[in-house]
Amino acid sequence: MNEHPKYKVAIIGLGIIGTRCADKLISAGIDVTTWNRTKKDRPDSTDTAIAATANAQVIAFYLKDSLACKAVFQDIRKTLLPGKILINHSTIDLETTQWLEKQCKSIGCGFLDCPFTGSKIAAQNGELVYYAGGDDNLIKQYRNILEITSKEIIPVGKAGNATVIKVATNLISASTVQALSESLAIAKANNIPTESFIAAVSGNACGSALAAMKLPTMASGEYDTHFSLDNMLKDANYAIQLAKSAELKTPGIQTTANVMKQLCEKGAEQLDYSALFKQFEN
Ligand SMILES: NC(=O)c1ccc[n+]([C@@H]2O[C@H](COP(=O)([O-])OP(=O)(O)OC[C@H]3O[C@@H](n4cnc5c(N)ncnc54)[C@H](OP(=O)(O)O)[C@@H]3O)[C@@H](O)[C@H]2O)c1
Repeated sequence: MNEHPKYKVAIIGLGIIGTRCADKLISAGIDVTTWNRTKKDRPDSTDTAIAATANAQVIAFYLKDSLACKAVFQDIRKTLLPGKILINHSTIDLETTQWLEKQCKSIGCGFLDCPFTGSKIAAQNGELVYYAGGDDNLIKQYRNILEITSKEIIPVGKAGNATVIKVATNLISASTVQALSESLAIAKANNIPTESFIAAVSGNACGSALAAMKLPTMASGEYDTHFSLDNMLKDANYAIQLAKSAELKTPGIQTTANVMKQLCEKGAEQLDYSALFKQFEN
């Protein structure tokens, strides 16, 4: 195993991904403290965010959204000192990423805009892919820590770029699952055997890793959560916000967002986002 620098790491947010990344860092021998809004029964967990970040050099956010990041940032602000770094892995809006960067700069604390792709299983296996926006020297300095939870780190230029890339690529995932839902519904309505349809998609240029992952479970109505529907709705809204700022019309993601909102209102918000197929279930 590679030698890792003896940074102390605070993991803030123990949802699906934060929990697994904290476990991975601990198994690699890193000194980790964690905090979650709803207290978790873990020996490394503290009662307050500030207690988790007080002695950490690396503070990693795996929080839900922009609101959560801003609120927690204010709580831990006085522990963010020069020589430390805040690495935000949460998918948030561009304005909040820029705000976090500005705040860190004014304190003299490092900042990386570092969202990721990969879900529950990838996090469990330390195989996320990070999009890293920010100073190349910071990416170099903390690469060893980031590598523990990832299989690839893609530098993408300045802070903010990774946020835009993450939100734009999630638009593709949400739209793909909406398209899979519509096509599966048509196949089912015409009594096409599920295996035939799945085989046809996988042999077609329209097939993808995402289709291979989601289509079988959608066909059998299993929605075990890897990435929740309400988090995908959040990201669709961030994409719509980015499109509006650039004066672009994006009717596809707007329609998908409307469907996701209706399903969330009917109680599907904590299911996997492939529950988009529920729009066709009675
Ligand atoms: N899961 C994936 O496949 C995946 C893939 C790529 C990117 N992401 C992104 O990575 C981030 C984490 O994802 P996840 O799947 O781990 O999310 P999750 O399971 O929904 O966990 C969200 C975390 O944020 C905390 N939180 C929510 N609102 C908060 C607030 N106002 N103040 C403080 N904490 C708050 C939650 O605490 P409580 O337990 O108290 O609610 C929980 O720890 C999200 O931004 C998500 O979009 C996820």
